[in-house]
Amino acid sequence: MNVDKKEIDNFDIYAHEWWNKRGPYKLIHNLTPLRVEYIQNSIDVKGLDILDIGCGGGLLAEELTKRGAKVTGLDASEKTIAIAKQHAKESNLDINYVCSTLESFIEKDKKKYDGIICFELIEHVPDQEKLILDISKVSKKKSKLFMSTINRNIISFTFAKVIAEYILKIVPQGTHQYEKFIKPSELARLLELAEFKVEDVSGVKLNPTDYTFTLSSMTKINYFMTSTKK
Ligand SMILES: C[S@@+](CC[C@H](N)C(=O)[O-])C[C@H]1O[C@@H](n2cnc3c(N)ncnc32)[C@H](O)[C@@H]1O
Repeated sequence: MNVDKKEIDNFDIYAHEWWNKRGPYKLIHNLTPLRVEYIQNSIDVKGLDILDIGCGGGLLAEELTKRGAKVTGLDASEKTIAIAKQHAKESNLDINYVCSTLESFIEKDKKKYDGIICFELIEHVPDQEKLILDISKVSKKKSKLFMSTINRNIISFTFAKVIAEYILKIVPQGTHQYEKFIKPSELARLLELAEFKVEDVSGVKLNPTDYTFTLSSMTKINYFMTSTKK
């Protein structure tokens, strides 16, 4: 199975915090407007079938649904999916949340999607190549895949692991494993092997004064990548 139980146990602990804007997912709340803008600059999601893999509490799934997308959100953490479902219900949003890995989901669901979101997930799965190959299976021709993850180098180790988790404590401790960080060139290679054409790589810069984010040409720490299924 392409899931790490220790990772899921860790996400279960913080599941109830997903919608706390000042809690451990504060940075993801702050990043969400930039993510929406990044996606909307590439496609109009209105009316599109979107699969959000490793959707967490549904921060992005809700924003895309408000913009007219038909979103299916997958997450392997039961507690997380329960929170996502509850919040969507309270917000009166119709989102198809499923507690599953992508690997198990595609055994039953043969549907292909117009757009796939895979934000901050690849650095948490045991087999990154398999994840990309499975994403390819659920992607329509010419569909867009939006990913975000963390580069692997001494700068990302210092900022995304040591400073964020242990000094500033703005990310829950133990969230990331350095070995799972992936360089843009490595991710691009996996995507090309799975019949995706990479169209954009953008760095994501954290403003240290107010913890907001902007796009940047600096991809040494967090980055977005957009590709199209051939
Ligand atoms: C860092 S969070 C990112 C959440 C969301 N994509 C976002 O960026 O707002 C990673 C999420 O992936 C889920 N996850 C981890 N491994 C998974 C797997 N193998 N399959 C599906 N979900 C997984 C976790 O439960 C967690 O909710």
